[in-house]
Amino acid sequence: MKRLEGKSALITGAAQGIGRGFAQAYVREGATVAIADINLEAAEAAAAEIGQGAYAVQLDVSQQDSIDAAVAAVVARAGKLDILINNAALFDVAETVDITRASYDRLYAVNVAGTLFTMQAAAKQMIKQGHGGKIINMASQAGRRGESLVAVYCSTKAAVISLTQSAGLNLIKHGINVNAIAPGVVDGAHWKHVDAMFAKLEGKAPGQKKAEVEAGVPAGRFATPDDLTGMAIFLASSESDYILSQCYNVDGGQWMS
Ligand SMILES: NC(=O)c1ccc[n+]([C@@H]2O[C@H](COP(=O)([O-])OP(=O)(O)OC[C@H]3O[C@@H](n4cnc5c(N)ncnc54)[C@H](O)[C@@H]3O)[C@@H](O)[C@H]2O)c1
Repeated sequence: MKRLEGKSALITGAAQGIGRGFAQAYVREGATVAIADINLEAAEAAAAEIGQGAYAVQLDVSQQDSIDAAVAAVVARAGKLDILINNAALFDVAETVDITRASYDRLYAVNVAGTLFTMQAAAKQMIKQGHGGKIINMASQAGRRGESLVAVYCSTKAAVISLTQSAGLNLIKHGINVNAIAPGVVDGAHWKHVDAMFAKLEGKAPGQKKAEVEAGVPAGRFATPDDLTGMAIFLASSESDYILSQCYNVDGGQWMS
């Protein structure tokens, strides 16, 4: 039996990478999925490739009116909202003395405020429906500890873990489970971008940072989005009804907590 049959899901930042992988997996499990992204064209292309069950929605998680419109679009299309994955995020690197206000504001607007207020809008809709729901926030191993050149991103992901803990405690009375996933390193466009940033900052050859990071993964390789879908399906299904406020490492053995 399909584990998400008849469910309506909204996945932010799902036009590519991990979010796209989640969308594909959820459709396979019987859900109808809104591929919500700031890049509508890419979201439409992803939805067309995934096929029946997926549709594109314009969403900028840093803008409240855009969040509200996206939730309304999901309800108009699917009649309800059962599952939210807060997946959209931005990354940056800098020496501590070179961190700019602009970078800080951008990352906090998307990674922290975007997560909180999309979670809030989804929870309001789920409470109105009266049948509970599932919210999954994308954290990171970066939220478990600091990294020398990644202070802002790491702190946003620590904030996502903390928001998950508090919101999970607060929303369970409505039957809404809030949990998080902390991936390690996941191959895709994001890591191409990260590798290029480190190459510039540390004077490394293209691909060098990525190879160094991969050598340190206990599982011996980067993850693919497919490595994460099992946890995302589990946390969206009734099998996880007694689980809340947790953050699960799906990271090839990188972090133990
Ligand atoms: N790739 C990794 O190694 C890794 C590791 C740990 C955690 N994560 C987390 O997993 C999630 C997905 O990562 P990814 O590698 O697939 O990212 P990605 O950069 O490949 O994709 C992010 C998506 O978010 C969209 N987006 C950006 N700003 C947005 C906004 N304001 N509103 C809506 N959409 C927006 C982008 O258009 C893009 O489609 C993120 O939360 C990331 O922090 C990734």
